[in-house]
Amino acid sequence: MQPVTEVPFTDLSAMAHEVWPDIQTPYIEALLQGRYVGGAAVADFETRFAQYCDTGHAVGVANGTDALQITLQALGIGPGDEVIVPANTFIATAAAVVRVGATPAFVDVDPDSLLMTPDLLAAAITPRTSAVIAVHLYGNMSDMDGLLAVADKAGIPLVEDAAQAHGGEWRDRRAGSFGVAGCFSFYPGKNLGAFGDAGAVVTGDAHLAEKVRSLANHGRTGGANHYEHSFVGTNSRLDALQAIALGAKLSRNEEWTEARIAFADRYRKELAGSGVRLTEVAPLARHVYHLMVVRVTDRARVQGVLAAAGIQTGVHYPVPCHQQPPLQRYATGPLPVSEQAAGEQFSLPLFPHMSRSQVDRVCEVLVEAVETP
Ligand SMILES: Cc1ncc(COP(=O)(O)O)c(C=O)c1O
Repeated sequence: MQPVTEVPFTDLSAMAHEVWPDIQTPYIEALLQGRYVGGAAVADFETRFAQYCDTGHAVGVANGTDALQITLQALGIGPGDEVIVPANTFIATAAAVVRVGATPAFVDVDPDSLLMTPDLLAAAITPRTSAVIAVHLYGNMSDMDGLLAVADKAGIPLVEDAAQAHGGEWRDRRAGSFGVAGCFSFYPGKNLGAFGDAGAVVTGDAHLAEKVRSLANHGRTGGANHYEHSFVGTNSRLDALQAIALGAKLSRNEEWTEARIAFADRYRKELAGSGVRLTEVAPLARHVYHLMVVRVTDRARVQGVLAAAGIQTGVHYPVPCHQQPPLQRYATGPLPVSEQAAGEQFSLPLFPHMSRSQVDRVCEVLVEAVETP
């Protein structure tokens, strides 16, 4: 057997190869039928994705950022409203708030999980707070019992940013099924990824689902004439070809997620007791490991050692949202845990088609790099 040397960060091509036999016939049929936006393939995927998320409704949209923005708009959030978001997240969480004209109110995260906690949320609520976005970052689930209790007490809706957490669970219930809505990205590198950009909003509220569907389709409402518009909406719909690819991948998502979890467990075992800091997973959570994030104090050097050994890594994310230039005006003070994490965290290779020997190789090089500075 060849020794393992190079380890890519991910391998989208392996996933495409696996689903290709299932999708080539429906792809050609859809192409030749000429129905490219919406239609039966999209409706079928929406039904299956809603079931997968333990929710009543799913609405396909163009990407995860639109899923968040349209959800906020559907909830009536706009100028004058404050929406609480964790500082340690991808910029899209906060950008969606700004794009509806509202103000992001950044909160810090827990030093062990790097997620927003109920206490941090409770301390951040003001009379101007109109909503909160809980982010299941890296695929790790936020404390949904605690966050919902705080949001309910304050009388504000909780939206889940589940862009990285397809199939994540808290107390055996799926990500996206806790808040008023769950917003997903199907960006190609996500756990459930399209062959391009795509996203979805899931919700148990039929009225909210209809409003999201309308806003994502130029404000049209079901049954109305094509050129009758009830709202000023946008064009953010799911393509039939993406829905076919997503449907085939959804059939494999549990198997692929279990593979991710098994590799992550192996990383955790191999790295336990080394100088590498791992993120904490709550006992009630099913972490679906979109990203295998670890922390070291001298990241640049350690990443350099891994790169020299042919091991690709990423940084998610190097700058917390409140320090991003377009968002600095919304910062109200330092958020030390997010700021420190941004300087230390980085992501190891993790994808369903990797091998155990690749995990072992990464651990071997990483532990050696940390132990011999
Ligand atoms: C946490 C988080 N929120 C939102 C998004 C936005 O999703 P998209 O890239 O599909 O717009 C992403 C993905 O990039 C994300 O990781």
